[in-house]
Amino acid sequence: MMTNSPRPTVAEIDLAALRHNLAQVTRFCRSGQRILAVVKADAYGHGAVHVSQALAAAGVEQFGVALLEEALELRQAGISHPILVFGGCYPGQEEQFLQHQLMPAVSDRQSLFRLDRFARQAGHAMKVHLKLDTGMGRAGFLPDEFLQLLPELSHLQGLRFVGLMSHLACADEMQDEVTPGQLEKFSALLREVRSQGLVIPDIHIGNSAGLVGWDCPECTLVRPGIMLYGGMPGEKYRESLDLEPVMHLRTRIALLKRVPPGTGVSYGHRFHARRETLVAVLPIGYADGYNRLLTNRGQVLVGGQRAPVIGTVCMDWIMIDVTDIPQVDVGDPVTLLGAMGDQLISAEEWAEWVGSISYEVFCRIGQRVPRRYLEGQGG
Ligand SMILES: Cc1ncc(COP(=O)(O)O)c(C=O)c1O
Repeated sequence: MMTNSPRPTVAEIDLAALRHNLAQVTRFCRSGQRILAVVKADAYGHGAVHVSQALAAAGVEQFGVALLEEALELRQAGISHPILVFGGCYPGQEEQFLQHQLMPAVSDRQSLFRLDRFARQAGHAMKVHLKLDTGMGRAGFLPDEFLQLLPELSHLQGLRFVGLMSHLACADEMQDEVTPGQLEKFSALLREVRSQGLVIPDIHIGNSAGLVGWDCPECTLVRPGIMLYGGMPGEKYRESLDLEPVMHLRTRIALLKRVPPGTGVSYGHRFHARRETLVAVLPIGYADGYNRLLTNRGQVLVGGQRAPVIGTVCMDWIMIDVTDIPQVDVGDPVTLLGAMGDQLISAEEWAEWVGSISYEVFCRIGQRVPRRYLEGQGG
């Protein structure tokens, strides 16, 4: 149900910060390398359509999503750029891939031959990216399997091999001994492809951490996700990157109450006031993505200061202790994620509170929270 006067909980998406982060990505690209922006999972919760439109206007040439449904959402919004679907094409989806000119990443023989048959019968070639498992241990042809397949590729007349890709497993880690091996395997397989006379225009392996920390001279594309949204691709890059948060999760104080010492707060009374306490009630809860693990642990920004979450996070509410913050009032703005003035609650800090990663913090901000697109920080 849409309403013109929703509750004040909103995720502000700063498109100027998105463009700033895109410029940082560009700084790490070799000359001639182009960007395939990863906008899966609703652009990591930021809103895939608005984010893709902004990135396309800023010069991004291709997009990557996980699912057909995500690609169709972009097409329906008028985005006509090449879209790579990392999750591939499931049986029954072939027609839509062809109709909307979507490119599946293909990781296994059976899918490859199925897509070839379908495309030949339909009389339209399908563009595909071949995915190699050089050490991720997830999707992709294993090197031996791929070498066996290689001589057969030229017989698959229904397919156009427009990309050769792999994915890095450990590029974000402090002591990364895995990535050099993955890059080497990828290079060796690419040499085999070329020695068979097969021309594949787009070569790509780098996610954000791969792009920032490693070099792939053969790569024509990079595939950044988290960096575009202002998330650090790894602890070791914290000092070297100038990224701005794109998402700012905000609400306003709904109620204030002064309670005597000993008062229990929220389900299970997991918090008891030790002193006379000014409790602010905020209209946001775990149904909005405010993780229940933030119970007695999270912090928010209000009146230029930090205030702790007290008691259990409810489905639609949380309570914070504002006793030490001067002149708080009902309706005062509160920032739960992102910046307020010169203060910041980063996705990394939030992630540490709940034992996760910034990616999950962003992705979990619920559909119930409206996204508001701004140029610059609201607040
Ligand atoms: C295949 C693939 N490429 C690129 C990315 C982007 O990674 P990151 O957000 O770390 O830049 C992802 C994200 O998980 C991915 O699955």
